[in-house]
Amino acid sequence: MAAEQTLILVKPDAVARGLIGEVLSRIERKGYRIEALEMRTLERTVAEEHYAEHVERPFFGELVDFITGGPLVALCVAGEDAVVGMRSIIGATNPIEAAPGSIRGDFATVIGENLVHGSDSAESAKRELGIFFPGRF
Ligand code: RTP
Ligand code: MG
Repeated sequence: MAAEQTLILVKPDAVARGLIGEVLSRIERKGYRIEALEMRTLERTVAEEHYAEHVERPFFGELVDFITGGPLVALCVAGEDAVVGMRSIIGATNPIEAAPGSIRGDFATVIGENLVHGSDSAESAKRELGIFFPGRF
């Protein structure tokens, strides 16, 4: 158990579908704190840096197109084991495999439109928070 911070993105598909409040509500009712929040539309260079681990994957171009395709909401979320805890609230990457009760399990069907990003480790969280909220965390 450890107090952690993680980067959460309410992705453009979730914003377009009017799910910002639903996502924020699930974070808060779990007991996590929202420590920073910003709506913005990403430049491609920022998106490519954020998803740099996937640069060689065949879907990288589509992923960057998607995440830059409209406004998103970036959050710093904090609390006990926030990295793993938020991944659990979000659900499996492929929404068809995501458990009912998770965000992806309840609201998504397509892997490329899976509504929410959560950092996958404490190291990733530190790197990603530095991209979205430079100098703040
Ligand atoms: P995220 O980074 O967005 O939170 O998602 P994740 O950790 O659950 O999944 P990750 O492996 O990091 O993949 C990043 C995003 O790439 C898209 N993807 N498409 N077509 C495919 O096989 C495929 N695999 C991954 C997904 O939109 C995923 O969220
Ligand atoms: Mg990921």
